[in-house]
Parts: sequence; structure tokens; C-alpha cells
Amino acid sequence: MIQLFPSLIAANLLNLEKEITQLDPYVDGYHLDVMDFHFVPNLTIGPDTINAIRAATEKLLYVHLMVEYPERYFERLQLRHGDIVAIHPESPSEMPLDKLITLISSHGWTPCVALNPETPASILEKISAPLNHLLLMSVNPGFSGQQFMPLVLLKLKEAISIGRAANNPYVIAVDGGINQENVEALVKDGADQLIIGSALFSQHNPVFAIKALRSSLVVR
Ligand code: DX5
Ligand code: ZN
Repeated sequence: MIQLFPSLIAANLLNLEKEITQLDPYVDGYHLDVMDFHFVPNLTIGPDTINAIRAATEKLLYVHLMVEYPERYFERLQLRHGDIVAIHPESPSEMPLDKLITLISSHGWTPCVALNPETPASILEKISAPLNHLLLMSVNPGFSGQQFMPLVLLKLKEAISIGRAANNPYVIAVDGGINQENVEALVKDGADQLIIGSALFSQHNPVFAIKALRSSLVVR
């Protein structure tokens, strides 16, 4: 079954605890966008806020590091076993991608590789460290509320093929501009997890919005 992760960047930041409490029964976890004003032209939350959110819910956290030198963040994160940590191969880092993946696993977290819209899926064939999770960006990283880029559907199919060919089927999330208009195509083409920001939090009632989204997917 498809998993849904609200992207809290789009939530009411002065009411995060309330947003989490009301959404908790209806979500598979929360997506947390970390931006550093270097890798992307925006600044969001850091480890202290992530750790506070960690203490406020039992659900899975999906930490998306849109930063330079992601390895510098790991020591300060107090995540639970299995929480997902997504890194970008496009990020400058003091270590190669395989080493970053291994380091995330060594903390007990689930490593994930996030690909910008212009990064080809073929980059996955160069990864040798054990990796099961992918995050395909359907907008250029940096902001919530952008327009969905349909080209991601092609990359989704390519990534599924690459995983199958390597006998390593990926759990694939898609992130950016997801709404009622494109969920059907994403699910049909094989997405496992959807990250949804503005389509939920721009609604008067995000709980109603996520329930509506989920029931429309069940019916289809
Ligand atoms: C973009 C972020 C996404 C984004 C999703 O850089 O990685 O997680 O916040 O928000 P929407 O659904 O509004 O595009
Ligand atoms: Zn994200």
C-alpha cells in the first residue's frame, strides 16, 4: 500500500505540535526538509528542531538533507532505528556517496539517495553500498509549493528497472508538487511513498485532505 508523508515545511510552523497530533493517525511518517542556504537557496530546520519533532511522535521520520557536507549533521541527529535519512549525490561532501550511505546505516537509520530532476537514474548503477530507498525529486529542491515536473514519471520507471536488473528492488518516494491531479499516475507507475506539502497544508483541514487523498487512492 502507498505510504503518505506530509512535508512539514509547508505546515503552520508556529503550530507544529498541533499539526502532528492531528495528522498522526492518518500518516506513515513525516518528511523533514533540511536546507542550508548553500546547496539550495533556502534555509529551514536543523538538528535541534528535528530532535524535538522526534520526541513528539511515534511515527517514522524521513529526513531530507538538502545541504552541503551532509555528514556533518549525523552526529547531532537523535533519530530512531529505521528512520530514513536522504542525501543528495549532488551535494559536496568530504566522503564518497558509498561511504555516506554506509555511515547512515551504521547509525541504524535507513539510507536513501535523493535525485534532483536533472540527475539521471543511471547514477544508481555506480552505487555499491547496500541501498533500498530512493527519493525522486519532482521539483527543483528548495521550496514547497512548486509545480510538479511530469518527467519524474520516466525516471521512476527507469529506477524501477535498474533496481530489478540488480535484483535490488527499491522503495521509491517522489517529492514535490504532488496533489490530487498527479497521485494516480505516480501510484500507477510504481511510486511506493508520496511526500506531500502544500497540497495538504494549504487546505483548511489537512486531516480531511489526507483522508480524501488516501481514500481516492484506495478506490483506484
Ligand atoms: C522541496 C522539498 C519538498 C517540498 C514538498 O525542496 O524537498 O519536500 O517541501 O512540498 P510540496 O508538496 O508543496 O511541493
Ligand atoms: Zn523533501
